[in-house]
Amino acid sequence: MDTELATELQTIVDLIRYGASRFNANGLTFGHSYDNALDEATQLTLHALHLPHDLSPVYGQSRVTLAEKEEVLGLFLRRIEERIPAAYLTGEAWFAGLSFKSDQRALVPRSPIAELIENGFQPWLGDREVMRTLDLCTGSGCIAIAMAHYNPEWRVDGADISDDALALAAENKQRLHADNTRLLKSDLFSGLQGEHYDLIVTNPPYVTNDETDALPKEYSFEPDLGLRAGDDGLDLALKILRDAPLHLSQKGLLVCEVGESERALSALLPELSLAWVEFKVGQMGVFVAERADLVLHSKRITKLADARR
Ligand SMILES: C[S@@+](CC[C@H](N)C(=O)[O-])C[C@H]1O[C@@H](n2cnc3c(N)ncnc32)[C@H](O)[C@@H]1O
Repeated sequence: MDTELATELQTIVDLIRYGASRFNANGLTFGHSYDNALDEATQLTLHALHLPHDLSPVYGQSRVTLAEKEEVLGLFLRRIEERIPAAYLTGEAWFAGLSFKSDQRALVPRSPIAELIENGFQPWLGDREVMRTLDLCTGSGCIAIAMAHYNPEWRVDGADISDDALALAAENKQRLHADNTRLLKSDLFSGLQGEHYDLIVTNPPYVTNDETDALPKEYSFEPDLGLRAGDDGLDLALKILRDAPLHLSQKGLLVCEVGESERALSALLPELSLAWVEFKVGQMGVFVAERADLVLHSKRITKLADARR
């Protein structure tokens, strides 16, 4: 290590500040659970020093040994040179206040649906009774397992088409003791025949082909299968809208994330009443739909969905 650097960087805060400056200077993209350089530098520094992610600021002025500096700077270098998302470097991502294992088998958890889980899906769920829920396209299992964690009385299914994602979800189920979660392999609803849910939550792939091809290098470490969803990003969402009523109880709700494909969906189905959720940080392309509304517009939805590959 550069001896000048080793002398000048003395404390935990020095390292975090230095990392954040280098990340910004090198034009990194922050789209994977942390949205800024300081938070990523903090996450990498605390991981390399084997310290808790919510370390009290009191320890920020603690001095760091030469060997520890080398560990931290090594991680910074990989983040800058290889552009690997921080969560894949540390093997951990936080979602809905829970620590999930994260690696290249599934997308880094970052859905705003975490906020809905933490507030009990209110006001959308109201006083509806929920017994069974489904997280379709579960990836790392983060949505299914967080729902199961905060609602131990619910029976939660998490389904995905990817064996890799399901293997990671199984490790997360064990890590978070989510015994009320069942993981299933299924191409959308095809493996869930006869199953009915009071609440279906889904964060399917919804990035357009053009956008997927143009994403910054950080996203190339994530499975393409978790991102790409056709020319307008709605290939999977439309099929989910079509088939969800078959798997929802009479008063069931569908919660679905479509991100920036929200505009395309509203343009295709202006007559469908979708409630777009306002999160603390603003609207983020997540809608809530009642089963009854999906049934009402099923003819048009089916026509649009059937036209997709
Ligand atoms: C955007 S990721 C979401 C993962 C996770 N729910 C989250 O919020 O981090 C989408 C997931 O959908 C899965 N997927 C893609 N096509 C699918 C299909 N036809 N049926 C089921 N899952 C699918 C991918 O494997 C990926 O894990």
